[in-house]
Amino acid sequence: MDKLADIGVIGLAVMGENLILNMESKGFRVACHNRTVDKVDAFLAGRGQGKNLIGCRTLEELVASLERPRRIMFMVRAGAAVDQLIDALEPMLEPGDILVDGGNSSYLDTTRRCTDLAAKGLLYVGAGVSGGEEGALLGPSIMPGGNAQAWPALKPIFQAIAAKVADGTPCCDWVGPDGSGHFVKMVHNGIEYGDMQLICEAYHLLSQGLGMSADQIQPIFAAWNTRELDSYLIEITADILGHVDPESGTPTVDLILDTAGQKGTGKWTSQVGLDLGVAIPQIAEAVFARFLSAIKDERVAAGPYLSGPGKAASQGSDGDMSAVVDQLEKAVYAAKICSYAQGFQLLRAASMEYGWNLNFGEIALLWREGCIIRARFLGTIKEAYDADPDLANLVLAPYFREVLAGAQAAWRTVLKTAVDLGVPAPVMAASLCYYDGYRCERLPANLLQAQRDYFGAHTYERVDKPRGEFFHTNWTGTGGETASSTYNV
Ligand code: ATR
Repeated sequence: MDKLADIGVIGLAVMGENLILNMESKGFRVACHNRTVDKVDAFLAGRGQGKNLIGCRTLEELVASLERPRRIMFMVRAGAAVDQLIDALEPMLEPGDILVDGGNSSYLDTTRRCTDLAAKGLLYVGAGVSGGEEGALLGPSIMPGGNAQAWPALKPIFQAIAAKVADGTPCCDWVGPDGSGHFVKMVHNGIEYGDMQLICEAYHLLSQGLGMSADQIQPIFAAWNTRELDSYLIEITADILGHVDPESGTPTVDLILDTAGQKGTGKWTSQVGLDLGVAIPQIAEAVFARFLSAIKDERVAAGPYLSGPGKAASQGSDGDMSAVVDQLEKAVYAAKICSYAQGFQLLRAASMEYGWNLNFGEIALLWREGCIIRARFLGTIKEAYDADPDLANLVLAPYFREVLAGAQAAWRTVLKTAVDLGVPAPVMAASLCYYDGYRCERLPANLLQAQRDYFGAHTYERVDKPRGEFFHTNWTGTGGETASSTYNV
């Protein structure tokens, strides 16, 4: 047989094919397999033609064509497909062989698979891969975690194919044990939901609120992309707004139905926020905004019955557009800072809960290039965590504190404008509520605890007594003195 392959990849869908071509372009010999075998033939005869690849029609062929220890990467649909592949491959593998799941698997599944396979001597890794089709081909962000013994064998391949920051550092490094790589990818996607919705809210305010057309809004995003908001998502938004439908001459964005789809990673992030007890309202609101968009028929039916502020309010903002646009830029940046702060709080909570010892500055670097949320701003986040790895919250880093203080007036004005115009801005509103809540020394939870104690004898702690002592008041004089237990979920 010819020279053995450095790595095997299973799954010739969009991400798999491009990742294989990326690996091959960096000098690696790749064995390729797909469940529907015709796709192997089609790939080898098409984009893979003449390349340093081995087409494998069966899993047995794939296993036999690999250098030892074998490195096999799955680029298949998350869920049952991954377990089926593991079950099918396991009898053919030897201790020390490495399986990598490069799909969007649940981090809990990855943790389970790591543990199960470690008991059998196999090294399992869950690697988040972000960057879409182009990233996979030219340099994605890769977030590997799991069995650390696998890392020395994967590092040369993964770091060669990953995106690089300006100084050449790859956007790929070992994240931590268990499903931590997939967890970091999940949070990346949650943040991506928040960023996208925030941009959409700015667009909505400019279009519906202020009556601007797509070609008037386009240069605004293009200009934002030259300053602090410089990022892939702002860049593609400017591109999208400039695109004209060749048939009708209408901006393409105006022709697209306003119902959003989702593949579930934002929902997972929100669910994990609830499970770990971390406030990530911007990510959750971004998911809810997609749900609300999806019930288009209901919205269209409800519109005539539910009154808004009407034309009068929007006439008030006909004045100086450039002042509004400047304020909006500041508001979007402030909201973005709060959104990332929430994402990193979730990472921090998971790191503590699972003992992962995550390095937040390194995670910011993994997202600096290659992935969908890549942005100049992530370099600033890395600097903040490098300066203080134990930072309690990103909003407390000196640079971000200053930006938030400077943006505050504009941020509040923009939200007032949105409210006055009746334009929904749930993620931006959630950002300011998070900021105001996080900096608030005394929240109204004193009253909330009183309510809980009133109707359920749930007890409360007192400001004039040490923490951990619980009290119950017989509020009506008719209730008993028996208090409920004080557990929290
Ligand atoms: P995309 O990158 O296009 O989003 P995906 O839906 O995440 O792709 O994954 C599709 C890949 O998973 C395909 O390679 C598919 O194989 P087929 O071409 O045979 O459909 C693969 N896949 C899905 N279920 C699988 C299973 N049970 N076993 C093996 N591969 C499977």
